[in-house]
Parts: sequence; C-alpha cells; structure tokens
Amino acid sequence: MLVLPSKYVNEMRMLPSTIASPTVAHAHNLMGRHTNMNIILRNNLHFRTLQLKLTPNLSFLTAPMQEELNYAIDKELPNCEDWVIIKPYHSILKLVARISARIFLGLPLCRDENWLEISTEFTENGEWDDFRKGHRYIRKAKKLLVPEIKRRRQATAAGKPSTENSNLLSWMMEIASEAEGDAASLAHLEVVMSLDSIHTSQMNAVHVLYDLVARPEYITPIRDEIREVSKEDGAWMKWEKPSFTKLRKLDSFMRESQRFNPPTLISMHRVMMQDHQFADGTVIPRNAHVSMAVNAIQNDPEVTPEPRTFDGLRYYKLRQQDCESHLHQFSTTQEKILNFGHGANSCPGRFFASLEIKIILVRLIMDYEYKFPDGKGRPENVRAHEFIFPNPEGELLMRRRSTSERLAI
Ligand code: HEM
Repeated sequence: MLVLPSKYVNEMRMLPSTIASPTVAHAHNLMGRHTNMNIILRNNLHFRTLQLKLTPNLSFLTAPMQEELNYAIDKELPNCEDWVIIKPYHSILKLVARISARIFLGLPLCRDENWLEISTEFTENGEWDDFRKGHRYIRKAKKLLVPEIKRRRQATAAGKPSTENSNLLSWMMEIASEAEGDAASLAHLEVVMSLDSIHTSQMNAVHVLYDLVARPEYITPIRDEIREVSKEDGAWMKWEKPSFTKLRKLDSFMRESQRFNPPTLISMHRVMMQDHQFADGTVIPRNAHVSMAVNAIQNDPEVTPEPRTFDGLRYYKLRQQDCESHLHQFSTTQEKILNFGHGANSCPGRFFASLEIKIILVRLIMDYEYKFPDGKGRPENVRAHEFIFPNPEGELLMRRRSTSERLAI
C-alpha cells in the first residue's frame, strides 16, 4: 500500500473510478471475496440512494429519528436516579442501531431483534475473525428482508397507499435498475449499509461523550446552547433539522473530538485501474493500492495550529471569524480534513451521521450526568492496524438529571 503525500489530494479526488477506484479498494479492505462484500463491485445502488434520496430528505427524517431515539432510550438505558455503571460503547451502539434501522427499513421491521443483531454484530463478528458468521448474517438478512420487499412491491403494484415509503429500503426499490433490484441484492445492500454506517457513527458519539466527561468545562456552554435552541424552537419533538444546525458549539466539539480520535489513520483508499502520471511526473502503477495519511495531514501545525491542544470550540471560533463558516462544520470535507474523504467519492452518509449523532448527544447531554469510576479517567483508545476505537470495555457512571433540568420532550 502506498501512502501518498497530501499534495496529491486534489488530483486524486478528481480522478474517475476508471483510473482510481474507491470501490475496488473498499472491497479489498473488507476482504470482499471472503466476506461476501464484493457485491459493491457490481452494484452501487446504496451509494446513489444515500446521495439522491437520504440526504435530500433529512428534514423529513428528523422526527422519526427523534421518535426512535425516545423509544430506544426507554428500552436500552437504565432509568436511574442514582449512579449506575454503563459501557457507553455498547449502550450507544444500541441507540445508533435502532435509529439507523428506523431510517433504513421503517416501522415495524426496524424493531425486529433479528435485524438489530445482524446490523450490529455483522461488523464485529463476521468480518474479521470468523468469515462463516458473516455469511450466516447475510443469509439471515435475506430471509428477513426478501419477503418484506416482495410485500412492498405487491402493495405498490396494487396502488395501495403506503406509510412505508420514506426509508432507504423503499427508496432503493424505487430507483433500482432492473439489473440491480432483485430482492436478494437489496437485502444484501442493507447489510453493506449497516457495515458502513453503524459502527462509524457509534464510535464517534462514544468518543464525544468520553471527551466531554474528561473535559467538563465544555458541558455548561454546550448545555446552554441546547437550552437556547429549546427557547427558540420549543420542546424536543418540535425541533426540526435546522434546530440541530444551530448547535455550533456541539458541532465544533464533535469535529475536534474526531480530530483527536480519527476512525482511521489512513483513508481515501483507491486501487489504480491503470498506470497514472500525476502533474509532477510521478507515475503510480496499475494495481497499486494508494491512500492518504489523514491523521498526519490534519495534525500538521500548518493545517491545525497547536494540534496537541484539545480546543472543543476551535471550529466554533473559526466559524465566527470566517466568511466561509460552512467549511468548518463536522460534515464538511476539505483538502486537508479527510476523515470523510474528499470529492465525489467522499462518504455519502456524513450528513445523516452528523444529524444522527447530534440527535443522540443532545438527549444524552441534557438528560443525564456522567463521571468516570473512582480513580479512572478517559479509557485509552484501542488500536487495530490503522483503525482507532473507543475501548469497548470502557465504563462510565451515569444518572438521570432532575425533571426540571431535562429536555422538555
Ligand atoms: C462518523 C461517521 C462516519 C465516518 C467517519 C465515515 C467515513 C467514511 C469514509 C472515510 C469513507 C471513504 C471515503 C473515500 O473513499 O474517499 C466512507 C465511505 C462510505 N460511507 Fe461513511 N462514514 C460515516 C458514516 C456513514 C453513514 C452514517 C453512512 C450511511 C448512512 C455511510 C455510508 C458510506 C458509504 C456507502 C460509503 C462508500 C463505501 C461503499 O461503497 O460501500 N457512512 N465513509
């Protein structure tokens, strides 16, 4: 694998997939031949559906996401007036999985325990240590989703009005070409999407929570900002997507937390489909697997001054000074900020991820307080290859805040 210097980012992001393929690289990283993930080499319907349907419809999806979070919190978090120990990695995984399922499949299927198991455990068990488990989860997903896809098709053909249209599965069915749209492939792509989305968002939310507990001086300004939005926009269930956009301090803290805890040290993977010569004459040969050192690039002092200082309001301050304030948002990619990639092939789910993480964090920050167990601080991150995870066994003490302090639902 070649890790390229950052001067090639712009040239790299302009190259078409016929020259530098992100999908071949992604399939390679996922060991696609063994894990059954090679479907992405012949079908990019999931990518298009995220870009063409999910992102433009985020405004309509905000209320169902909030509603599902309310349900998930009742189901998954302890209703505790006194301190209890939780493992945030696991608790937040369940919240993210439930909200994602609501948007990926719709009601009532999103509450099916089999689906929740498939979507959360596929990544953990299937991919890395036991390939057979991965295949078993894909078979299970097909068994669960194929009858549902057929039922939705019959309902559409019969012209029956359906309340199930605003979710990823129905959108994929709507825009699929004849070659892409067989029920088994759609079910398979739902698993691919869970793999791309659930752990990435969950880990980000866990890092933010740990960083907030480790740096309690940020909790009051972030809570005050949330209260300001409540004053303007009303009770939680009345909040719409723009309400979450107003949370600039939280957004900044999320971006800084991601800088300190990037999901991976290298990103923007591409496999060269043919020899290619960059403008400076450097030739990258066919079949080379190239990537960018995202972490080293964004922590260069020329890109991020005083990179070793955690400044939760760094991007908030930049947004106040800068006329290009949108450049410093959590979901914005830049030539030197590459946690979501950059260019046409950057993460198509990042706007959804940003909204989903904020929806979860607002409730967790307003309705609970936290501390680390006695004598312990922020759990050390875990590294596997180039990936960085919050420690799955890390613990926090948590208790509900009083009714007057909690969000008005
Ligand atoms: C904080 C959360 C997330 C992070 C850090 C993240 C990061 C990334 C990165 C670095 C890439 C590769 C970009 C490139 O090659 O240039 C990517 C691709 C992708 N992401 Fe995300 N992502 C996140 C959340 C999501 C979510 C929520 C979804 C779906 C709703 C999603 C769907 C995808 C898809 C479909 C791809 C393309 C890979 C494929 O073809 O299967 N991601 N993401």
